[in-house]
Amino acid sequence: MTPSQMSNVVILGVETSCDDTSAAVLLNGTDLRSHVISSQITTHQKYGGVVPEIASREHSLHFQPVVQQALDEAKITFRDLSAIAVTYGPGLVGSLLVGVSGAKAMAYAAGVPLIGINHLEAHIYANFLEHQDLQFPLLALLVSGGHTHLILFEAHARYKVLGHTRDDAAGEALDKVARTLGLAYPGGPQIQRVAQEGDAQAFTFPRAMLEPDSLDFSFSGMKSAVLNTLNSARMRGEILSVPDIAASFQQAVVDVLVRKTLMAIKRTRVKTLLLAGGVAANSLLRESLEETMSQQGVRLVYPSPIFCTDNGAMIATAGYYHYLVKDFAPWTLNANPGLNLG
Ligand code: KG4
Ligand code: ZN
Repeated sequence: MTPSQMSNVVILGVETSCDDTSAAVLLNGTDLRSHVISSQITTHQKYGGVVPEIASREHSLHFQPVVQQALDEAKITFRDLSAIAVTYGPGLVGSLLVGVSGAKAMAYAAGVPLIGINHLEAHIYANFLEHQDLQFPLLALLVSGGHTHLILFEAHARYKVLGHTRDDAAGEALDKVARTLGLAYPGGPQIQRVAQEGDAQAFTFPRAMLEPDSLDFSFSGMKSAVLNTLNSARMRGEILSVPDIAASFQQAVVDVLVRKTLMAIKRTRVKTLLLAGGVAANSLLRESLEETMSQQGVRLVYPSPIFCTDNGAMIATAGYYHYLVKDFAPWTLNANPGLNLG
């Protein structure tokens, strides 16, 4: 790092909330100097989902090497950092604890501030990494494995949750249906892959819209409808087409997400929509939102797929905005597995 860059803001972001150990070095909020992700997918795949105890052990093994690699690739040492940002919730408590205690120890030893990051907020901030021209107010559709939220952002750190899922998150429903169809974990990308060969009109699964003016979501009943269809067919000795089921369910989930988002856009009259979270990597969702939003004159922004699923770059990006307003965490920062937005 050159002397002129030393006066800049250099954030190390670390993420360990679920099954990805990730670290990134970010210069001045937009210049990603390094980004390392160690995924545990193959370890958990044989169990059909994330096993919390295994996840935290894997984080313990990979945390230090991943951080070191991020610093090495950015060609910096701890002394060059302005702050260390870490996810402290929501997520798996054992996984979060590895990141929080590791980040705390590093920040204390390096003599730099510690920044506690809400993982959900960070997913949305992934958009600021690649789009520096975003103007408030913004509407965000956050769709991940654990959450489905519609959020109105009035300014940095000032937001209102307009709607959220009352049961399963969109990603969770996709994962559960995929598992029943015999597809590998995580199910969302598998559903997308298999759906390419299927007919989205083959099955008419319900679209749960709840009360007419509600911006909340409910995916549990939609998921159960698929499971019931499969069970009834099995009892009749029929074999249903996996691609057709996958395509029809993916379409139902996307239809609900698009319709609710359109309602929120009409209600708030916001002109920019941010898509965020693992399910934001879904191409049908992106294409459908793109079409609907362009008809409304609304700009749709989403992160590159690598920044949609869990990653350290989004933590560093959120950390940069906390750093600007000196929103630092105390040394007593603890993991908060149930942390929510707002
Ligand atoms: O944001 P994320 O990495 O972790 C959480 O914070 O939950 O999201 C993971 C979720 C999983 O449910 C996964 O199946 C889903 O995102 N996902 C996708 C795609 N890629 C990941 N769902 C649909 N299509 C995809 N391409
Ligand atoms: Zn996530």
